[in-house]
Amino acid sequence: MDAIKTLLVDDEKSFIETIEKRLKKRGFAPYLAESGKKCLEILKDSTIHIVVSDVKMPGIGGIDLLKKIKQDYPAIEVILLTGHANPNDGVEGIKQGAFDYLTKPIELEHLIGKINQAWDKIQRIKEKKEEEAFRERMKKQLIANERLASLGTLSAGVAHEINNPLAIIKESAGWMNTIISGMNLSTVPRLNDLKTAIDKIEKSVERARRITHQLLSSVKKQDTALSEIRLNEFLQETIHLVKRSLPEKNIKMSLDTRHTDGILWTDPYQLRQILINLFTNSARAISNEGWIDLTVADTGDLVSISLKDNGEGIAYENLEKIFEPFFTTRAPGEGTGLGLFITRGIVEKLGGKIEVESQVGEGALFTLVLPKFNKNCDTQKGRN
Ligand SMILES: Nc1ncnc2c1ncn2[C@@H]1O[C@H](COP(=O)(O)OP(=O)(O)OP(=O)(O)O)[C@@H](O)[C@H]1O
Ligand SMILES: [Mg+2]
Repeated sequence: MDAIKTLLVDDEKSFIETIEKRLKKRGFAPYLAESGKKCLEILKDSTIHIVVSDVKMPGIGGIDLLKKIKQDYPAIEVILLTGHANPNDGVEGIKQGAFDYLTKPIELEHLIGKINQAWDKIQRIKEKKEEEAFRERMKKQLIANERLASLGTLSAGVAHEINNPLAIIKESAGWMNTIISGMNLSTVPRLNDLKTAIDKIEKSVERARRITHQLLSSVKKQDTALSEIRLNEFLQETIHLVKRSLPEKNIKMSLDTRHTDGILWTDPYQLRQILINLFTNSARAISNEGWIDLTVADTGDLVSISLKDNGEGIAYENLEKIFEPFFTTRAPGEGTGLGLFITRGIVEKLGGKIEVESQVGEGALFTLVLPKFNKNCDTQKGRN
């Protein structure tokens, strides 16, 4: 908790010095000002929580000072000290937003009591503000999540609708190709341009279909089929599979399973899909040669599978975005930007989470944490 910073304002020097001395003995360290003007100067340079001010002062009077403080520093609480003969000043002060007023001559205990009450109020307001800010952040996060979820559903709907026209375009392009190949070619003007155009149509359709299929598989209710996985064997196999599909690069892949008992209950097909997506991304981030290390470790009821590569890494501002649908940094026509979006969906379906750490030029580390025994395992065990 912050120490309470109090500022005493009174043109009667001896009065505030006496109060200061007595407050110091009680553990306070008040600031002093002999005028409203001086008070405002101090407020500009220091963080003050509570102002205790006389009402009757030459220059800026206590009530005007109060108004100014409430306008410029609304978080500061003001306690007014009024003369015995002027109780109305106190009432006026409260109307203008003072925390309270005390009538001179003041009793130290009273003053300390009021300062503590004002401090409590400041703390309550601060906590309330922090809670509101927290709620606001959560709300924003929720809206963002909902937006992403509805974006996913919407795109899948669109993907579904686009599938049929795509099939027709593909078929028609194929048909055009067949017609051309059966024709007397010398009679066809700009034959090469025509062939290139048809080829472009076929390639683009293929790409569009890849996107629609990926989108559809991301929302399709795939039943999770849990079984016991022997991690060492399973991961060796996966590495082998990935290596075969990346013959053009010289990538060393290693597997460390020293810190796991080697058993995981989850859906092997979905886990394989996750790993293939991650491996493929890492491999693409590595230019010609490099390494990808896979490390598995048990921690209590969880298994973490980390995949670290020494590829190009991810820019800080992209770390948040890479799991969003359609975010890609690859050349147009190369990446769909759906790999990690789908991967995260699967990981969450399996009751786990996925995190990333990376810096440009330093490679990337993706960590997948899954429950060692998926909560549906008991019902599934019997079937296996
Ligand atoms: N290991 C990695 N190293 C560097 N960048 C990565 C890595 N993994 C992902 N990224 C970044 O995250 C982006 C999104 O990845 P994601 O797998 O979702 O889509 P993609 O690989 O671009 O396309 P695709 O849909 O074909 O997978 C990539 O374009 C790349 O910028
Ligand atoms: Mg990818």
